[in-house]
Amino acid sequence: MKNPLPRTIFLKDYQAPAFLIDTTDLRFELGEESTRVLSRLLMRRNPLHLEHSAAPLVLNGQNMQLESLAIDGRMLAADEYRVDEEFLTIFMLPRAVDENGAGFILECVTVIKPQENTSLEGLYKSKKMFCTQCEAEGFRKITYYLDRPDVMSRFSTCVVAEEARYPILLSNGNAVAQGREEDGRHWVRWEDPFRKPCYLFALVAGDLACVEDSFTTCSGRTITLRIFVEDKDVDKCDHAMLSLKNAMAWDEKVYGREYDLDIFMIVAVDDFNMGAMENKGLNIFNTSCVLANPATTTDTGFQRVEAVVAHEYFHNWSGNRVTCRDWFQLSLKEGFTVFRDAEFSSDMGSRTVKRIDDVSFLRTAQFAEDAGPMAHSVRPESYMEISNFYTLTIYEKGAEVVRMIRELLGEDAFRRGSDLYFDRHDGQAATTEDFVRAMEAASGVDLTLFRRWYSQAGTPQLRVREQFDASAQTYTLLVEQSCPPTPEQPEKLPFHIPLRMGLLDRGGQAVALCLQGESSPGALERVLSVTQASQSFVFTGVHERPVPSLLRGFSAPVKLHFDHSRDELMFLMTHDSDGFNRWNAGQQLAVGVLQELLGDYQAGRTLVLDQRVVTAWDHVLQSCIDKCRRHQPQDKEMVSQLLTLPSEAYLSELASEIDVAGIHAVREFVADTLARTLAGKFAVLHGLHAADGVFRADAAGIARRALRNTCLAYLMRTENAHWLEVCRRQFEDAHNMTDVGSALRLLVNCELPEAAPVRRKALQDFYTRWQHEALVVDQWFSVQATSSLPGTLDQVLSLMQHPAFDIRNPNKVRALIGAFCGQNALHFHEISGVGYEFLAERILQLNVLNPQIASRLLTPLTRWRKYDDTRQRLMRVQLQRIATEPALSSDVYEVVVKSLK
Ligand code: TRP
Ligand code: ZN
Repeated sequence: MKNPLPRTIFLKDYQAPAFLIDTTDLRFELGEESTRVLSRLLMRRNPLHLEHSAAPLVLNGQNMQLESLAIDGRMLAADEYRVDEEFLTIFMLPRAVDENGAGFILECVTVIKPQENTSLEGLYKSKKMFCTQCEAEGFRKITYYLDRPDVMSRFSTCVVAEEARYPILLSNGNAVAQGREEDGRHWVRWEDPFRKPCYLFALVAGDLACVEDSFTTCSGRTITLRIFVEDKDVDKCDHAMLSLKNAMAWDEKVYGREYDLDIFMIVAVDDFNMGAMENKGLNIFNTSCVLANPATTTDTGFQRVEAVVAHEYFHNWSGNRVTCRDWFQLSLKEGFTVFRDAEFSSDMGSRTVKRIDDVSFLRTAQFAEDAGPMAHSVRPESYMEISNFYTLTIYEKGAEVVRMIRELLGEDAFRRGSDLYFDRHDGQAATTEDFVRAMEAASGVDLTLFRRWYSQAGTPQLRVREQFDASAQTYTLLVEQSCPPTPEQPEKLPFHIPLRMGLLDRGGQAVALCLQGESSPGALERVLSVTQASQSFVFTGVHERPVPSLLRGFSAPVKLHFDHSRDELMFLMTHDSDGFNRWNAGQQLAVGVLQELLGDYQAGRTLVLDQRVVTAWDHVLQSCIDKCRRHQPQDKEMVSQLLTLPSEAYLSELASEIDVAGIHAVREFVADTLARTLAGKFAVLHGLHAADGVFRADAAGIARRALRNTCLAYLMRTENAHWLEVCRRQFEDAHNMTDVGSALRLLVNCELPEAAPVRRKALQDFYTRWQHEALVVDQWFSVQATSSLPGTLDQVLSLMQHPAFDIRNPNKVRALIGAFCGQNALHFHEISGVGYEFLAERILQLNVLNPQIASRLLTPLTRWRKYDDTRQRLMRVQLQRIATEPALSSDVYEVVVKSLK
């Protein structure tokens, strides 16, 4: 394979580009055998480059054939340039270029084979459609170019293809001309008036249906909105279109950002490595993130579409108008944009539930990344393969860093900071430092120490203790922070942590918070600025020992330790004014109990559930039932969150050594006990939320279905065949995928012997009914891959032979292999090591076809340090087996080598 040993790229080595590209004119002649790309670049030396007039011109380019090369119309002879695996180097340029910085025109014709491109990076084919994915470094597989985000150019693109096969020809910007040629080909010429880096370039050609709408901006401009999909998917575009219009209006209102082009297009493709891509004016989406329809899509799917459509749209400002100087700054656009889309989703639905979902995800997956061998800071210092750095740390922790800035600045100053950032850097390639400086300048808040969140990896631990002095009427919080070592960062300096908090008196009322030395009456909630390794906060005028509510809304991505008693946690569950902390109190109560039970399980003691968990869950059920009966408003989605036990993945992240079977067993024990003890109330609540006639994807509808299915899941544990029958009927009668899919999942995991024939029939019927809907078949694969019943790996192996499975399609790989290895700990970590061997084989297979997917799939194996000796050894054997493969992609190589270190 191409790669020798991948190089490491360092942030400290950043240099401005030696050349600039003012305009980029491209012509694509798309063909069935191969595609010709004609490129005409207006270039000049960068006056800001250090070694101004010495450097040769070095262009990136891979996997292509150079047909011709000319400068200012003169063809270059073979000895005037060099082509190797990665670069095109031109030694001599016209004298005027070097002497007075004159511009020159570089023309180059290359031939590529999109049909053979299984990496889904660069120009490739998805089914019968041509499409592109250029971020981060895919443009270099299309033509020779300066493939780096700080080289921004004005693009015009002419797409030429056979009209019968490819009636739709798209690129960035506006269509400015089109025509026909005699040979059955036609062409469209697109011009993008905004300078952009090549990673935002896009091209699509295919036979696509189009759903059209429009949006009138705040300044009165009318924007054409188009979603291009396969014919059969035209009925699945409404939700994306509505989400897009909501996002456009929201960005105007909340950030003062108006859309800039006259047209905004989305194209849905089946084969896509990630969720979607924000190419200027021409977003390309994984079908899974744009298509939605009640019959085929779960409520979670609907919410994902809304979030991803908004995310890509928001990139038009946070990413495109202001882009990244280099890929070390990736979180500048991704962290900020995730923060923006999370706030948007919060405004569209339940803010508390959105926060709960995001924090659950962060605390399991991102914290695990921070504790693993690939841990890196939000602004990494180095990488081998940039594709490996589209991580939870860059995205989710990056969003938390922006959120913390808002916590420290307050909402108004944060908005002034964002306005200033967009204003100062519009049209530029910026850095995270530019972002922080704008926030400081607009607010006057000093973020010097805060910057460590960008440079230090790892999850800080916050230990808080309390002291109440009854005679002095003071209450003191002693806060200590530390951060475990991560690769290359053995020591950490203290972080600047916004600690949002309140104090509750015994009646559950908020205590006025007056810090020693302050005279003001004191707010009921505050954000404490924790900046030192050890620090105390003394509150005065506190008459009785309060119960502290700490880290409200999860104001910082840290692990908080405070010794709340179980009774205090129950008290917070009902009295805390902060919805997130009410939920979190219940989770911490359950975590404490589960961890204690795990100790009992490991020591072979009989398991006995602390009655307080039952009481707490009983209380949640009863108060929901009461409110339903009195028709009082309540956040029912929140209720189903309150009733859900911490996941096995979260418990695993918290453990120092993961006991897969033990964690599964004790969590099952608690869920079963709750189900048996509270069956009556689960049944009442289930009855109160029986199937609704009309389907609505709104907050109320989503909450109703979530609650109904949460109750049903508990009731299925009661080993009462009645509920099996209820579940079977829901599977057969429901008209929406949330209810059908939930029922199928319950049937697939049900241990009752009489469930077996029901399960077989359900799986068969489901496939027969939905075999023509790829995204539903993905759900069918993943529900089977995540089953906790015995024999799951064999089932996965046989599904890999199923005609609907295709290892070249990332959605299929994620649904079957990814789900089994990443979400089925019980079976993947089976003590014989067959799960590990299975994964290693798939990785070696995918390493050749699609390195990005191969590398992502590796994640569960990299966490070997968290397991017992036997599993550690078995996992390492498989990692070493991969490492000895001679033709490893840089993607897989980097992850394997770093995780074996
Ligand atoms: N910029 C995209 C987003 O977050 C991410 C993305 C889409 C991507 N496709 C990719 C990153 C392929 C790397 C490779 O919205
Ligand atoms: Zn993004």
